[in-house]
Amino acid sequence: MRQLHGMVAALQEDFFMGVINVIDTNGKTHALEAVEGWRVMEIIREHGLPMEGVCGGACACATCHVIVDDAWTGKLFPARDDEEAMLDTVPNVMPASRLSCQLIYTEELDGLTVALDPNLVEKARAA
Ligand code: FES
Repeated sequence: MRQLHGMVAALQEDFFMGVINVIDTNGKTHALEAVEGWRVMEIIREHGLPMEGVCGGACACATCHVIVDDAWTGKLFPARDDEEAMLDTVPNVMPASRLSCQLIYTEELDGLTVALDPNLVEKARAA
């Protein structure tokens, strides 16, 4: 977390900073500081919430699956074919499912709300 704050401080003047809201498996919402250009997966992971992101954002593992809040699904750019293909491997995929590594944080996503996948949270905690 200290490393994140250092990076944020260095980037603060050049990049938009805002917030994403992440709902954990207990229903608690975490407001996370977000920096333009970061993947939503990276933001969640760097704030210490359970998020594996095994492939590092290469759209090759689906361990960054999140469920996007209904108010935000229409505001996101559509998933590309490779993201759709990876989402098909997620057991509990939903219409609002996305891979958080494919969501790049911008000013337009300020306030984005996503929920963590309960199946993946257990895996991330065990890792
Ligand atoms: Fe692997 Fe998103 S981190 S698909």
